[in-house]
Amino acid sequence: MRNRHGTIEPGRVGRHLVPWVVLAVVGLSACASPDASDPITRGREVYGRICSACHGSGGEGGVGPSLRTVLDTWPGCADQIEWVTIGSDGWMAAHGPAYGATGKPVQGGMPAHRDILEPDEIAAVSAFERVRYGGADEAATLADCGIGAG
Ligand code: HEC
Repeated sequence: MRNRHGTIEPGRVGRHLVPWVVLAVVGLSACASPDASDPITRGREVYGRICSACHGSGGEGGVGPSLRTVLDTWPGCADQIEWVTIGSDGWMAAHGPAYGATGKPVQGGMPAHRDILEPDEIAAVSAFERVRYGGADEAATLADCGIGAG
């Protein structure tokens, strides 16, 4: 129904808008939880919550080393995952006083994370570091870290 100005009555507009509002809400709720489907987003969350305190908010280093050369240290993701899982002390006990492909001396201070993170969280944060700080290809890295394409 049109009012005397020839514009459509609000009530009528409202009824037409209902399906679009429903669609928008469904769409927004799908976007609101990207963590479940995107391992890099999940890894970024873990990094910011736990790792950034020592490795810097941008991976630049601090108490812990910079992560810019993480691919040189760990050419394969599996070894990096083990390192993050067992930490400096666990690595020293399992593999001796050097870590990584570059044979860095274990100086201590990298905590084990097996008791506070799930294996898929450790894989996700490792992938995040390799892609965002190491510059690795994302799809290849997700496969290398055993978390597929999501
Ligand atoms: C309490 C501080 C601290 C926290 C928290 C921490 N790290 Fe570390 N990290 C270190 C230190 C210190 C080293 C070097 C250890 C050594 O020499 O034994 C290190 C080394 C590393 C390395 C090797 C880098 C290289 O190229 O040498 C990686 C990868 C790494 N950490 C990842 C992580 C991830 C992922 C997290 C979060 C889940 C994390 N770290 C949390 C202190 C920390």
